Amino acid sequence: MGARPLRRETDSWLERWTATVADLAHLKDSHPMLDAVIDEQIGRRIRIGDHWLCDFASCNYLGFDLDQEIIDSIPGYVAKWGTHPSWSRLLGSPILYEQIEEKLADLLGSEDTLLLPTITHIHMSVIPVLGGSGTIFLDGRAHKTIYDGVTIARGHGAQVVRFRHNDHEHLAELLKQNPPTPRMIAIDGVNSMTGNAPDVTQFARLAREHDALLYVDDAHGFGVIGERSPDELCEWGTRGNGVIRHQGESYENIVLVAGFSKSYSSLLSFLALPTQLKNVLKVTAPPYLYSGPSPVASLATTLTGLEVNDKRGDQYRYEMYRKTKRVIERLRELDIYTPNVSGYPLIEIPLAKHEDIDPVGRYLFDRGIYVTMAAYPLVPKEEVGFRIQVTAANGDDEVDLLCEVLGELQEKFKLQHEGHRELMLQARATRG
Ligand SMILES: Cc1ncc(COP(=O)(O)O)c(C=O)c1O
Repeated sequence: MGARPLRRETDSWLERWTATVADLAHLKDSHPMLDAVIDEQIGRRIRIGDHWLCDFASCNYLGFDLDQEIIDSIPGYVAKWGTHPSWSRLLGSPILYEQIEEKLADLLGSEDTLLLPTITHIHMSVIPVLGGSGTIFLDGRAHKTIYDGVTIARGHGAQVVRFRHNDHEHLAELLKQNPPTPRMIAIDGVNSMTGNAPDVTQFARLAREHDALLYVDDAHGFGVIGERSPDELCEWGTRGNGVIRHQGESYENIVLVAGFSKSYSSLLSFLALPTQLKNVLKVTAPPYLYSGPSPVASLATTLTGLEVNDKRGDQYRYEMYRKTKRVIERLRELDIYTPNVSGYPLIEIPLAKHEDIDPVGRYLFDRGIYVTMAAYPLVPKEEVGFRIQVTAANGDDEVDLLCEVLGELQEKFKLQHEGHRELMLQARATRG
């Protein structure tokens, strides 16, 4: 046998992978705000090395991760159930699952619910079941995890048709071509980048007219927006029961997917669905059959979280609303462009020059502001920038600092403003 070559085929293969995400790989290796080790946390302040920052990258929207009643509830459940139920759900689940599924169906107003560990598990396993060998209509900017689930479905024989982001008229044209059934339309609820929600009523109408199922991932809407009520504290509505209820829709022809890992700070996710479909998924969705379940601490924080949501969730939502409003008003005052027109607490700020992401991120870091970096190829080059998430637990002093630093950024770097954005879009349209 000859000597082993020094460079193996896998090395160049891995290099090719790295080259396709070169900008991100470079930032990951060099930037303090990516792949960071967080040494300590006090409230929404985090310490990286000897540097304290205000955390505007957390998706713990309601601040349940820091709620004392929720924290104190964990030991009792762990004493009763141990740290982790290690059965797959098909074998058996602690009664806590049944309790959560019932309470959740009640909150959502859906016929039934089904819990699995993460939304990614749900997309990878449920989209192929629902797509079958029919047609999946996929929003052009759907979350990567939906896209990956759809790719698996394609491998199982589904045909995939993409429509322009949020464009129900484009979808209507495609549906008129009468593609094979079963038909499924896959979209996001509150979008993880723009912070905006689709017009669910229009998509639901098309689904009902064309014998299709509308599949909505509302990871960022659940817990944040909810049903409207005359005594609501703000226009995000009450109860945080998600985008379907917020827009006054029923669940007819709709499957809602969301998770507890953002607003409820717990590793658990769910589908809101008819009981008949739930029973089918119990024998067809691999995570129900084979995956390990969520830890008991997460089941505990979900159960107590649902109780706390009933008691003071609307108060927390109002806090989040009030602080988000301050940030958005500051952006308007500075004429800094954000795609966020909803006022929801995800605020993306694209840069005028994508190359600036490194120094802009460093400036924010140095000034004590921690955000989500949106680098290429996570987003297209014209959208490279950063995303702010506002949670109920961010202090007003932290929002003050953020607003101050946004002003400094505007002076020191080129951000996009409304006029610039228009010109950029016109130039892109002219280029075709
Ligand atoms: C829209 C959307 N869907 C799915 C996910 C993944 O959720 P999970 O961590 O539960 O798999 C995310 C995570 O950020 C998300 O933003």
